[in-house]
Amino acid sequence: MKNLISMRDLAPQETLALLQLAEDIEAKRVRPDLSGRLAALLFFEPSTRTHFSFDTAMKRLGGQTLSMSGSGGTSAQKGESLADTLKTISMYADLIVIRSAIEGAARYAAEVIDIPVINAGDGANQHPTQALLDLYSIRKTQGRLEDLSIALVGDLKFGRTAHSLVQALARFRPRFSFVSPEHLGMPYYILEDLQAAGVSYRQLTSLDGLACELDVMYVTRIQRERFADPEEYEKVKGCYVVNRATLAGARESMRVLHPLPRVNEIAAEVDTTRHAYYFQQAHNGVPVRQALLATLLEAAE
Ligand code: NCD
Repeated sequence: MKNLISMRDLAPQETLALLQLAEDIEAKRVRPDLSGRLAALLFFEPSTRTHFSFDTAMKRLGGQTLSMSGSGGTSAQKGESLADTLKTISMYADLIVIRSAIEGAARYAAEVIDIPVINAGDGANQHPTQALLDLYSIRKTQGRLEDLSIALVGDLKFGRTAHSLVQALARFRPRFSFVSPEHLGMPYYILEDLQAAGVSYRQLTSLDGLACELDVMYVTRIQRERFADPEEYEKVKGCYVVNRATLAGARESMRVLHPLPRVNEIAAEVDTTRHAYYFQQAHNGVPVRQALLATLLEAAE
């Protein structure tokens, strides 16, 4: 494993090995040593959790980071190509984490430079490290990854976290419910893969009565920045609001996950229920990213 660009590139045993290492790091059974190692965190798009948790992960293992938010302050503003910027940074750093609005940017980066590349989100396409921490969160709360009933709710067309999570979970015999407005459904290429793999899924437009059937409800934000027409966004914003009533009848063990940031799709009153897990989920980003960095930098014992 040299890069992490898409969850499709990871075999189930590689995924499970990363989750195990994350668990060992979190339990302090293992502490990889990243001292003397430098990761460049290149965030061309906004980020709070992903950026800061990569930064935290590196530093808490003794490593260091070079960090960039937006292209302001770099020579990209002078017209430098992405390839030249990346090649230059690869002269300084041992690994690159990249987030870009351009689909395929991380794959391209991995082709033009020799150091490991981690995709921290490429447009509406993929967000594999989020999927890893989502799997970690699911296993932690449900005790397993296999045979779970999971709803993904919200913008399934543009939501890259939903794409990566579905591809990652598909290997573990899930029962998926995809809940979205009609025009924001799961992309056809993902549905085709599920059909080919014999994975069970259904497509719904309403959340009514669903909670009692689920192990996990994975809620996502409508991705406003991906809409070409602001009026189309206005039509669908606020289409799902998960509140205490939505969760009535849910199993005690059912957990609501959200990659965050939330806008209004989970009411604040849910935060104090036993079902809310989204802030712990964000916390899980650190050990999972530590495990990934250690693996790619070959620092795991
Ligand atoms: C997500 C993203 O950037 O795709 N955020 C994150 O990394 N936790 C989800 C989102 O922005 O809606």
